[in-house]
Amino acid sequence: MKRVITYGTFDLLHYGHIELLRRAKEQGDYLIVALSTDEFNAGKDKRAYFSWGDRKRMLEAIRYVDLVIPEEAWEQKVDDVQNYHVDTFVMGDDWTGKFDFLKPYCEVVYLPRTPEISTTQIKQDLLTR
Ligand code: CTP
Repeated sequence: MKRVITYGTFDLLHYGHIELLRRAKEQGDYLIVALSTDEFNAGKDKRAYFSWGDRKRMLEAIRYVDLVIPEEAWEQKVDDVQNYHVDTFVMGDDWTGKFDFLKPYCEVVYLPRTPEISTTQIKQDLLTR
C-alpha cells in the first residue's frame, strides 16, 4: 500500500482543490490530508471562512481522501512522514522546492496548480459582484 500525504487549508473548497486531491491520490493508494488548524493559520495571519471541523468534514466526503489529520506546525512534516509511513509527499507547484528537505524520508512531488482559481480569488470576486 503506497501512502501519500498533502497539506493545506482547503477553505471554500473549489475545483482546484479537487484536482489537487485527485492527482495526489493517483500517486498511491491511500491519501492523508494534513489540514491546517485555525490556530496554525492565525499564526500566519490567515483566517479560513469555514472552521477546521467543517473543512475536515468536507474533505472526508471526497472519495480521494482517506484520512484527515491536523496540521498544527511547520515542523511536523518529518514526524508525520515517519509516523504515517508516508511514501510520497505532494504539494501544488506554488511550493516548488520548499519541501525538498523531506527527500531523505520520502518522494517529494509538486503538481501544477489548476489555473485561475483560488480561495483568495473567490473571496475577491464575490466582493466585486
Ligand atoms: N491548489 C491547486 N490549484 C489551485 C489552488 C490550490 O493545485 N488552483 C493546491 C495548492 O497548491 C495546495 C492545495 O491545493 O497544494 C491547498 O491549497 P490552499 O492554499 O488551501 O488553496 P488556495 O485556493 O491556494 O487558497 P489561498 O488562496 O487561500 O492560498
